[in-house]
Amino acid sequence: MTQTVWAAVDDYLEDLYVHSDSVLESAIQTSAAAGLPGIQVTPSQGMLLHILARMQKAGKILEIGTLGGYSTIWLARALPEGGRLLSLEAEPSHAAVARANLENAGLSGKVEVRVGRAIETLPGVAERGEGPFDLIFIDADKMSIAEYFTWALRLSRPGSLIIVDNVVRKGAVIDAQSDDPAVQGVRRFNELAAAQRGVLITTIQTVGRKGYDGFTLVYVLGDAPAA
Ligand code: SAH
Ligand code: DHB
Ligand code: MG
Repeated sequence: MTQTVWAAVDDYLEDLYVHSDSVLESAIQTSAAAGLPGIQVTPSQGMLLHILARMQKAGKILEIGTLGGYSTIWLARALPEGGRLLSLEAEPSHAAVARANLENAGLSGKVEVRVGRAIETLPGVAERGEGPFDLIFIDADKMSIAEYFTWALRLSRPGSLIIVDNVVRKGAVIDAQSDDPAVQGVRRFNELAAAQRGVLITTIQTVGRKGYDGFTLVYVLGDAPAA
């Protein structure tokens, strides 16, 4: 079983279940036209984020890593009236594309894209009391996942859900000697998360159009101490 089959099955399943629309299609197209890398979540994964945000009844969502706003649209569409999403993005050009896509999606009133390296903007999010967030999606540079996870815990409440994308890396995650900074970043996150009390954690391996990877869910329990 190879990439060709995984992609064909994604096509089949998305044709059945995940009805795209002109807003989502346009977000992909404008992102590609602006030269952004096509590394956004797949439609099936976008729907998973959307379902999880609905299950959380998330009124406040934090995203780290906006790109062209494709995952942002899936998440923000789950917000209730008065809900807010804050998305952190290092690249001003990515943020500009995302803002245009969110405007086109009619979501500008609910979503803020904040430009800056997340490690520099997260302290301000905490200081201003913008949390706690009901759902946090970590999907930026992979070498900093451990630091983002620490901030995510600080910005959580009992019952918050933290989702971390791209944590299996074609299986390279099991290679302790890997010289790939992304693999080392995921491994540092795993060690930190494994030692964290008051959370439930699972990582699900995935295959599909984007290849072989996976995501981690961290559920913050009522007795979770702040990190
Ligand atoms: N969540 C998006 C994909 C994000 S791709 C989606 O699924 O649609 C990763 C993004 O993280 C890129 O736009 C990249 O510019 C951004 N990024 C990389 N390093 C970052 C950092 N230090 N702080 C904030 N964003 C960063
Ligand atoms: C990359 C980043 C992602 O968030 C992703 O889902 C896939 C690939 C990357 O940086 O290559
Ligand atoms: Mg990702």
